Amino acid sequence: MIRSPGADEPDPRVQTPGATLEDEQTEVTLRPRSLDEFVGQDVVVDQLQVSLEAAAARGEALDHVLLAGPPGLGKTSLAQILAGELGVPFVQTAAPALERKGDIAAFLTALEPRSIFFVDEIHRLSRALEETFYPAMEDRQLPITVGVGAGARVMTLDLPPFTLVGATTRAGRLTTPLRDRFGIQHRLEPYGPRDLATIVRRSATILGVELAGAGAEAIAARSRGTPRVANRLLKRVRDYAEVRAGGIVTEQVAGDALDMLQVDHLGLDRLDREILSAVCEKFGGGPVGLSTLAVTVGEETDTLEDVYEPYLLVCGLLKRTPRGRVATPRAWAHLGLEPPRDPALF
Ligand SMILES: Nc1ncnc2c1ncn2[C@@H]1O[C@H](COP(=O)(O)OP(=O)(O)OP(=O)(O)O)[C@@H](O)[C@H]1O
Ligand SMILES: [Mg+2]
Repeated sequence: MIRSPGADEPDPRVQTPGATLEDEQTEVTLRPRSLDEFVGQDVVVDQLQVSLEAAAARGEALDHVLLAGPPGLGKTSLAQILAGELGVPFVQTAAPALERKGDIAAFLTALEPRSIFFVDEIHRLSRALEETFYPAMEDRQLPITVGVGAGARVMTLDLPPFTLVGATTRAGRLTTPLRDRFGIQHRLEPYGPRDLATIVRRSATILGVELAGAGAEAIAARSRGTPRVANRLLKRVRDYAEVRAGGIVTEQVAGDALDMLQVDHLGLDRLDREILSAVCEKFGGGPVGLSTLAVTVGEETDTLEDVYEPYLLVCGLLKRTPRGRVATPRAWAHLGLEPPRDPALF
């Protein structure tokens, strides 16, 4: 059972470069439903399997789980899988939707025992609301104030046993008291090319796309380590294959389609390159502050930091320094530009 207030509304966040509403809908179709279907992240999956079995054997709620990592790596999918594996209800919300203590109370008091309560973007909880979770997570108690003024008093509600699963793209922004209350903590890392190719093949089967030769690998190679991107590129490549290449996705067809989409061999798209060329050409290679850079390329600072920058850092194209972002020699080379002579910049 999935209850999700507001789930019909499109998520206003820009999660992946170039994502559309249709992409978000197929995302639901392509979601792995069980741990067996969840590709890669072997260490995390192994450890979760043990936690799940132990909780099931004891008939207890699973300990609270924190899932951290960049967008599109499978945090929401894993949270849903946990509920599926335990056979318990999945109730979801996102921190920005929780405005008052009463919003949390409404969710928590309505939970069926052992439910998974999924709070996305948990780093965005206000401090006051965060404190509401402390006793709820630790002692399954929820102190609430009844009445106003002199007649007000505090009542403590007993909560059913439940598992809070928090997801965050910014583990560093969580306060220590909140982080410490999660008994199980995992960080999802970007996927390697083999896992991504497996994901592409799985998605192709579900969507009825015919792959041949190294078609899956060609898409995987340009997917920036991210399953959501791999799935999105697969769909764009399918369109190209149907219109221009007889419907079959070979390595050549995938390469041609991705070139046409301006996704280069590292998986960088137009905005990635715009960011790099802004650093190199407008700011002499940096250092430049993130917000200045965001204004220059016309993006939100948060989107730049959450979606674009991590991959540029992983590729060794950009470096973070105390004074701002700096382009590496590799970035200059990637853009076909001559780096400045002053080696102090690197
Ligand atoms: N391990 C995986 N195996 C197969 N498919 C995956 C895996 N991880 C993610 N996906 C695919 O990628 C899509 C995005 O994953 P998901 O929504 O779980 O990411 P997320 O980490 O919650 O992202 P965000 O931070 O933006 O909320 C899913 O719909 C699913 O199709
Ligand atoms: Mg998610």
